[in-house]
Amino acid sequence: MKNYKDLDIAHIKKNEYSGIYNESIKNNEKFWSKISKRIHWFKDWEKISNVDFSKGVINWFENGKLNVSYNCLDRHVENGNGDDIALIWEGNNPSEDKKFSYKELLVEVSKFSNVLKSKNVLKGDRVCIYMQMIPELAIAMLACSRIGAIHSIVFGAFSSNSLKDRINDSECKVVITQDTGVRGLKVDIPMKENVDKALLDCPTIEKVFVVKRTSSDIKMDKNRDLWWHEEMSNISKFCEPEWMDSEDPLFILYTSGSTGTPKGVLHTTGGYLVYASYTHEIVFDYHKNDIYWCTADIGWITGHSYIIYGPLSNSATTLMFEGVPNYPDFSRFWQIIEKHKVNIFYTAPTALRALMKEGNDFVKNTDRSSLKLLGSVGETIKKPEWDWYFEIVGEKKCPIVDTWWQTETGGILISPLATSDNFKAGSALKPFFGIEPVILDNNGNEIKENPAEGLLAIKKSWPGQMRTVYGNHQRFFDTYFSQFKGFYFTGDGAKRDKDGDYWITGRVDDVLNVSGHRLGTAEIEGAIGEHKNVAEAAVVGFPHEIKGQGIYAYVTLMTGVLPSKNIEEEIIKKVKIIIGPHANIDKIQFSKGLPKTRSGKIMRRILRNISENNINDLGDISTLADPSVVQSLIDGKK
Ligand code: PRX
Repeated sequence: MKNYKDLDIAHIKKNEYSGIYNESIKNNEKFWSKISKRIHWFKDWEKISNVDFSKGVINWFENGKLNVSYNCLDRHVENGNGDDIALIWEGNNPSEDKKFSYKELLVEVSKFSNVLKSKNVLKGDRVCIYMQMIPELAIAMLACSRIGAIHSIVFGAFSSNSLKDRINDSECKVVITQDTGVRGLKVDIPMKENVDKALLDCPTIEKVFVVKRTSSDIKMDKNRDLWWHEEMSNISKFCEPEWMDSEDPLFILYTSGSTGTPKGVLHTTGGYLVYASYTHEIVFDYHKNDIYWCTADIGWITGHSYIIYGPLSNSATTLMFEGVPNYPDFSRFWQIIEKHKVNIFYTAPTALRALMKEGNDFVKNTDRSSLKLLGSVGETIKKPEWDWYFEIVGEKKCPIVDTWWQTETGGILISPLATSDNFKAGSALKPFFGIEPVILDNNGNEIKENPAEGLLAIKKSWPGQMRTVYGNHQRFFDTYFSQFKGFYFTGDGAKRDKDGDYWITGRVDDVLNVSGHRLGTAEIEGAIGEHKNVAEAAVVGFPHEIKGQGIYAYVTLMTGVLPSKNIEEEIIKKVKIIIGPHANIDKIQFSKGLPKTRSGKIMRRILRNISENNINDLGDISTLADPSVVQSLIDGKK
């Protein structure tokens, strides 16, 4: 079998990486100036960048004017590619699919842009989108970008309570949703009902647009709610794209941090699009006519950058899947690859682990000969699943790009390329062009020699970097730039080996990564604390076979309340109601007390070590107010 690496088709040919990388760092402005030309500007930018990490100020392509939907749609139609397929939608039910050419998608997006405008949604207004993976989600986000409204997509599994908090934080004017949702065996996910509950306490919402997906019986408020299909039935197909400034906001996406409520990560127009577009083409080695499929949900950053904005700006064919990998059976991913002749496939290690344990027949019964490149994101892809992905799924002919990045980074920052010559399972290998990662010790000193291990930070800005936390610039500065002067701090730990390759070791803060979903321990603790019998709770992660990390909660009950299976179940249910079903606590350990310092601070390191079974390595416990707590926690370990 021919090895991809030997073929001379890649954008970055074998042995070209170092030269381009060194040049991109040395002449950084010149490099990004050249790359910026890949998108269409109504008016050219005047200054490449204006960045000051010491103030949290980040601007790229100053005074340039552009429109994201124009770049993702009109431009390709004008270039004669209007009949190319932009979007393949594969429904939950294998017999349901739809295709949209660029021309068709442009019409739908223009129409919905006009609908939004007709309801007084203006440039700069915030629009909340709370949907499952249906084509109208893509249409809605592109329509927002066309008229300059800022979308805030809330992952469709979030509870009404989480939805409410996100709507209120960014003061959204409208919500776009669907009647009910379909996913695997679930055929009636109460999307509109959740919106109704959330809106009991959202004073800024004026209108709700509802897509009819299942025709389930739902309540419509005649003064507030509008059916999508009715609004779309008699509206102009033409909508002039708004000229947006390069630094005008494109979207807000909430993500969990180590403290407080989720942060509204804000991305702007020019830099984000340049970065999403360029990384999509280079990292996935995308070529015209390739069928590209990213299995993420659009409710997360991976879906924003690598289902919608990156691929569509490159006139790619992007596939969007409504369902789940195990419905109707564990072959579904591979059947979709066979059905649509997918060439580039991008998924998460947690999905691979879940599928791997079902055996190879589900894979081998399908034809995956169309595949040429595989991608991974969300957590480190460890050796067992890397080997399985490479040998069984890709039949040893596809390189695997293990892409490290974050909601905050807008796009991929560290990843192998198709033509890298030394793939290592578990290593994201090398920084992308223009990206300068560093490893810092705890005092913020850069460790320059190899091998190195420490905290992962980034030295220079890049166009896709987030610009602020919506409504709270101080929090942006405090979270990312205050610990280590002159660097963007990622919150991750990393190693760099003797070859200069990066290995991400995971979060060093109180953020969990559960099945690729990012959850803050503080959020979960807050939700547990809502149970009337709970006095105090502390949450840590523990290694979980499928999820990567599971949720382990230490809970102290009110005096006089005895632990019971009943309370345990109630707490688990409560957290799912408050946050969403993906915040599913795996283990609850009731304990009389938590390990605290004399000043009252919970020593999570000890809790983490107990949940991870490192009980011989608890470190110094002498500073605890009551060291005897530790033994009782060990004795009660789940
Ligand atoms: O800990 C890293 C992990 O996911 C975090 C970012 O989560 P989120 O903002 O939800 O974005 C996920 C998709 C981009 C990171 O701080 N992470 C992401 N990709 C990898 C990873 N850890 C190891 N290897 C990766 N490839």
